[in-house]
Amino acid sequence: MGFSTSTPTTSLPNMWASAFPPRRPSALLRYVVPAVFLLACLYYLSGTSRDLTVAVPKRSHPIDILVDAAETKFQKLLAKESHSLEEAAAAYRKRRGRHPPPGFKEWYQFAVAHEAVMVEDFWDQIYHDLEPFWALPGPLIRREAQAFEMTINIRGGKASAGSDWFWTQIWLKLIRTIEHLLPDMDIALNAMDEPRLVVPRETIDEYMATARETRVLKDPSSVVSEFEKLPPKDKVVSPETVRKLEWEDTRPFWKIVRRGCANDSLARQAGIMTDFDHPPTMDLDFAAPHMYHGYVANYTLSTDFCHQPDLQGLNGIFVYPLSVKSTDVLIPLFGGSKLAVNNEILLPAPMYWNEEERFTGGPDHGVPWRQKKDGVVWRGVATGGRNTETNWRAFQRHRFVAMNNGTKLARAEQWAEAPNNFVMPGGEYALRAQEKGALGDWVSTWANVSFTDLFCYPKPEDGRPCNYTGPYFAATPGLKMRDQFAYKYLPDIDGNSFSGRYLGFLRSTSLPIKATLWREWHDSRLVPWKHFVPMDNRYADWYAIMQYFLGYGDEVPGHDAVAERIATAGKEWAERALRPDDMQIYVHRLLLEYARVSDPRRESMGWVEDLL
Ligand SMILES: *[C@@H]1O[C@H](CO)[C@@H](O)[C@H](O)[C@H]1NC(C)=O
Ligand SMILES: *[C@@H]1O[C@H](CO)[C@@H](O)[C@H](O)[C@H]1NC(C)=O
Ligand SMILES: *[C@@H]1O[C@H](CO)[C@@H](O)[C@H](O)[C@H]1NC(C)=O
Ligand SMILES: *[C@@H]1O[C@H](CO)[C@@H](O)[C@H](O)[C@H]1NC(C)=O
Ligand SMILES: *[C@@H]1O[C@H](CO)[C@@H](O)[C@H](O)[C@H]1NC(C)=O
Repeated sequence: MGFSTSTPTTSLPNMWASAFPPRRPSALLRYVVPAVFLLACLYYLSGTSRDLTVAVPKRSHPIDILVDAAETKFQKLLAKESHSLEEAAAAYRKRRGRHPPPGFKEWYQFAVAHEAVMVEDFWDQIYHDLEPFWALPGPLIRREAQAFEMTINIRGGKASAGSDWFWTQIWLKLIRTIEHLLPDMDIALNAMDEPRLVVPRETIDEYMATARETRVLKDPSSVVSEFEKLPPKDKVVSPETVRKLEWEDTRPFWKIVRRGCANDSLARQAGIMTDFDHPPTMDLDFAAPHMYHGYVANYTLSTDFCHQPDLQGLNGIFVYPLSVKSTDVLIPLFGGSKLAVNNEILLPAPMYWNEEERFTGGPDHGVPWRQKKDGVVWRGVATGGRNTETNWRAFQRHRFVAMNNGTKLARAEQWAEAPNNFVMPGGEYALRAQEKGALGDWVSTWANVSFTDLFCYPKPEDGRPCNYTGPYFAATPGLKMRDQFAYKYLPDIDGNSFSGRYLGFLRSTSLPIKATLWREWHDSRLVPWKHFVPMDNRYADWYAIMQYFLGYGDEVPGHDAVAERIATAGKEWAERALRPDDMQIYVHRLLLEYARVSDPRRESMGWVEDLL
């Protein structure tokens, strides 16, 4: 199998154990919950009945606790809202340790005119992405951007692009809506699905240390508040003034991406899997750091694979991406999504700005909750990378579709067909249906999940079925997004990179349930369990999430109202904080920062009118 770790991998049955005990329980869990429980017991004992065999108050379900914690977290975020330019600038200085960039006032006025929710944290991704560039000389950043194969160029408040590649054109459209507010710059674009920059973690750590030195609040009287003008974009950059890029084309991609992890991380220590021609090996032990009693509690951490070496065999990106062209050099490259370790600078993905109906569902956001089917729908192509006869069992979409095939599950329960590319749940989630030997029957009552195309390779001749996944999966007709909104639950599963339908799902009246490895521009403005339901990338929690929401007959109560509340909160928040206006405001802020970090005078540049 070619998979070994220096820490012994626990075997299947007991691997569940450590995913469940809370690792670092929050104060709420350590004190408040036991206290409430104790008070309830005392109250109960003080009553007239002293019969201790009567059930004590039932403990909350872990999801109830996560939902409550999410509400608190969201309220705390909203409470940070700034209500004036001065407050916004103060919040900026406090969080970023620098003066705001020149142009901050116009940015603020634009944001306020567009009714933005002004919470500084909502722009965190920009600073995560740009911080290491403070360690590179500004002029080098400029030259490397200008020399890149695909760019958008801004001069004198006008944006243009040399390429008519459709993604570039969509990003150009977005930037043109704010071009008059932007200084001169060149923006290099990654037009591939897959991210391309994986700078070794050791290098990034050095860059971050250098960048930290530049985080100072200069005396306002010495601050420069103008951006530099640039020469026309057609000036040719001489090759010896930029770093040479070697584009690696390495599969499995895991070999490349893990260099972005810390040298003592499990991803760096574990052996590299090269054989995927077998049912997947998953280890819930590795999920423990981001789980609380079996459910995702730290979503950001769940999308980071550095502590999860088993994911190298559980997601197509690590196995065989459609295209790979990676470098270990930090160049200023912009893209729509990336893995936790990639170094691209994120822009909103083009399909979000373009409002393509196949991604967003169009203007129709679905019928009211009570008119929806109590079930799950998913349709998609068997992407995730290039699946082949010998690697498809490592692909996430294949795993998810198989796990929602009641027939397959029933056959596994009857020992008639061993699971080929997934693992039957252990007992720890106490799935009532499974305990009765009826997991397959139960799943059949609510799941409508299938591929629309098996994306077979090599492509079979004229309409012949796929000879390797064909026996396990049936391709069915597609289903428009608005028809999917007839179901209450919408799982969102990664494709070649992030899933472009997420925004459409959030805006819908249905509930998105999301597992992903991808980071996007909006991550810091969405709160898991408040605006959507997070799921682990192994999907081992999937049935338990569904049992929590749907219940099981008369035996396990469902939580339909909780689902409706999250679906509604996600929709309302998407309409308030993920609008096209919010994308403009994000890109406007991002490009001011990018222009400053590329300027040779960057350390003395800023907006300080409020301090003079
Ligand atoms: C990890 O990197 C640090 C700092 O570069 C170094 O001191 C340490 O020895 C390295 N550890 C391993 C296991 O390579
Ligand atoms: C989630 O994990 C990250 C990375 O370990 C950590 O920095 C962060 O504090 C965690 N968040 C919470 C809410 O525990
Ligand atoms: C799944 O959805 C399709 C399209 O709406 C429908 O034709 C089919 O009957 C559904 N299957 C189940 C099992 O509900
Ligand atoms: C599927 O077809 C390809 C050629 O198109 C062949 O190489 C391969 O062996 C076949 N696999 C199976 C399982 O029949
Ligand atoms: C469900 O699984 C069975 C057995 O493996 C398979 O024949 C069928 O095509 C699958 N259905 C779908 C929708 O993939």
